[in-house]
Amino acid sequence: MRRKLLLGNWKMNKTVSESREFAKEIKPLAKEARSHKIDIGVCVPYLDLEPVKKILKNSMIVGAENVHYLESGAYTGEVSIPMLKDINISLSLVGHSERRQYDNETNEKCNAKILALLKNDMVPVYCVGESLETFEANKTKEFVKEQIIVGLKDVDKEDVKKLVIAYEPIWSIGTGKNASKEIAEDVCKFIRKILRELYDTKTANKVRILYGGSVKPNNIKDYLSEKDVDGALVGGASLKVDSFTELLRNIE
Ligand code: PGA
Repeated sequence: MRRKLLLGNWKMNKTVSESREFAKEIKPLAKEARSHKIDIGVCVPYLDLEPVKKILKNSMIVGAENVHYLESGAYTGEVSIPMLKDINISLSLVGHSERRQYDNETNEKCNAKILALLKNDMVPVYCVGESLETFEANKTKEFVKEQIIVGLKDVDKEDVKKLVIAYEPIWSIGTGKNASKEIAEDVCKFIRKILRELYDTKTANKVRILYGGSVKPNNIKDYLSEKDVDGALVGGASLKVDSFTELLRNIE
């Protein structure tokens, strides 16, 4: 049985003071989530990581939104895995579509990050998903397949079970134009099929696959009722305590 996972993605939102306030308010949700066997957490900007982690401790997942694949060096503006580990952060998003779009994050770069995170016993949440153009050309599956194959190159069977994949069609992110639950299930199921081909059925059945893109309290349950959708990666609706709480309550 795969545990459900609800993961907020703050993107470039919340100052340190705002993040502290928010963390204090959502902390009680951790117990609630645990009693329903749901993993819950937030991926936050670098500056917010340490203050939020100090408040939430191990009650909830506190993850980074990005990380560099090298340990150290002359890479101005970057943050490394040892820096995250030093403040007990053990999860990072990889290849979010906004980073692919604005920061030239390629599948190859994502692969380097995934390998480095796994080597350090950290959890990569690998984001994949197609543009509107690709969707309309009916090429979603071949596009996502390439992202998975290149992104998971050299990831072995034991490690891949620790990884989380997030299917986020770009046309549904922040647009309010969410993919139907049928589309989400169709692609998540397809991703599991690729994992089966790359590894085996048992392994593929262990990997958690999330849907992301305009997930709101009023539609999260629909997605989570699909067989291959194990959770949600949520941007906008994770930014307010009320709606983050509702997201959780609606999948309990
Ligand atoms: P959204 O963002 O929920 O605001 O559409 C999702 C994401 O980008 O992870």
